Amino acid sequence: MTTTAKLYDELIEQLQKVTLLKSCSELLCWDEQTYLPAEGAEHRASQLSLLAGIAHEQATTPRIGELLSELEAAGDTGDVDSPLAVNIREARRNYNRATRLPKRLVEETSRVISLSQQAWVSARKESNFATFLPWLEKVVALKREEAEAIGYGDGIPYDALLDEYEPGASSAEIEASFSALRDELVELVAAIRESGKQPDISILTRSYPIEAQRTFGTAVARQIGFDFNKGRLDVTAHPFCMGVGPGDCRLTTRYDEHHFPGAFFGTMHEAGHGIYEQGLNPGAYGTPMGESVSLGIHESQSRMWENLVGRSRPFWSCFYSTAQKNFPEALGDVGVEDFYAAINDVRSSFIRVEADEVTYNLHIMLRFELEKPLISGDLSPADLPEIWNESFTKYFDITPPNDSQGCLQDIHWSAGLIGYFPTYALGNMYASQFFATAREELGDLPECFGRGEFAELKSWLNSNIHMRGKQFRAHRLVEVVTGEPLSHEPLMQHLHAKYDALYGL
Ligand code: CO
Repeated sequence: MTTTAKLYDELIEQLQKVTLLKSCSELLCWDEQTYLPAEGAEHRASQLSLLAGIAHEQATTPRIGELLSELEAAGDTGDVDSPLAVNIREARRNYNRATRLPKRLVEETSRVISLSQQAWVSARKESNFATFLPWLEKVVALKREEAEAIGYGDGIPYDALLDEYEPGASSAEIEASFSALRDELVELVAAIRESGKQPDISILTRSYPIEAQRTFGTAVARQIGFDFNKGRLDVTAHPFCMGVGPGDCRLTTRYDEHHFPGAFFGTMHEAGHGIYEQGLNPGAYGTPMGESVSLGIHESQSRMWENLVGRSRPFWSCFYSTAQKNFPEALGDVGVEDFYAAINDVRSSFIRVEADEVTYNLHIMLRFELEKPLISGDLSPADLPEIWNESFTKYFDITPPNDSQGCLQDIHWSAGLIGYFPTYALGNMYASQFFATAREELGDLPECFGRGEFAELKSWLNSNIHMRGKQFRAHRLVEVVTGEPLSHEPLMQHLHAKYDALYGL
């Protein structure tokens, strides 16, 4: 065995230990969001804080630094895209980020966000921002400290946080692609409004028994390719997907008897994340080559299954009769075209996760515009509800009636996930660009969907995206897979092709 191989093996062993420890925390987080009794919150916070501290210690052990330096100095890692080179590159990035964070800050952040999420749950339920404010202030202060500790270029502390979720991205680039997208979206929303067409969406809030929703959602998730022998679906307040490790991926959703799209498209969405997690190379577990690229790329997978597949006409030409059988009372007298129009209704609404494909990205832009000044200190957390409502009214021409439907609706800020929102809109852009290429390469995908066949798309995603792990950063992956740099155009082409027809534009 060469010296390099020996050093490399030792590095991989160290990295795997850290990933394994983190997966224990993840499982405790999953339990916290699904089954934990309310009074167990304090104890869970202590467990998570202890584990976060241990994982941080492991991730910053000087031995990793030594191994990396020796491997980098040896310089015989070969091709820059080889697994060896990629694992060293990404391990270096993680090590540098982790060693810049003091252990005290990591433990304190873990403790605070665990409790602040619990505070958010009750604040949202009661629409009481005042009870959440002290927690938000703590979280923002900790995240500002984190940004300072990590460091940033261009004098924008927010970029240090953004880089956690979308490695290599900067707020300047995001602003540029958002501004191109914003103008075209606003124009499309206006054209749709002026068309005067409004589908009957009341059919979606009829009675959809929860047990039937669970059965139908689970069956569809299975059919598009989520493997329930390697995963499960549970109920939570704010749905998410967690890839705990090979063979164990947790999906969550929330049911409302009188709102069909929430749980159904939520399940499709999370199953899309789950298919990515299940498609990672299990042989590379615990190393960057066995991990997803970024949150933006992750979101591209969920949005593709949710919107480009799940909200398409061929998909429902396949599944509509099963839906009618599951929900005879709600859908027995509704034709598939009316149903298709209803699930693709475009109009201004308060809740991001329930927004249509066209207005969704505007919800993201609003959050992006607020979290930057929250971190720079230009916006005080206490002023958030007022600024939120002002900004919301500007974007959507309607004003949230309360904070539950305004600035308290998302879990992210309570969970310390600041810099995360832009990855959703990036995800929508990546999704359309990947999907356009998949259609070119695979022939008529919509026809397959019409027959209930999804394996072609899934295996295309497996080999082009999932199995590659972190081989390429997001912007390069897009170029490698599609031959073009990231652009908002495929998304706008998709939206126009679909909505111009639906609204007669
Ligand atoms: Co998602």
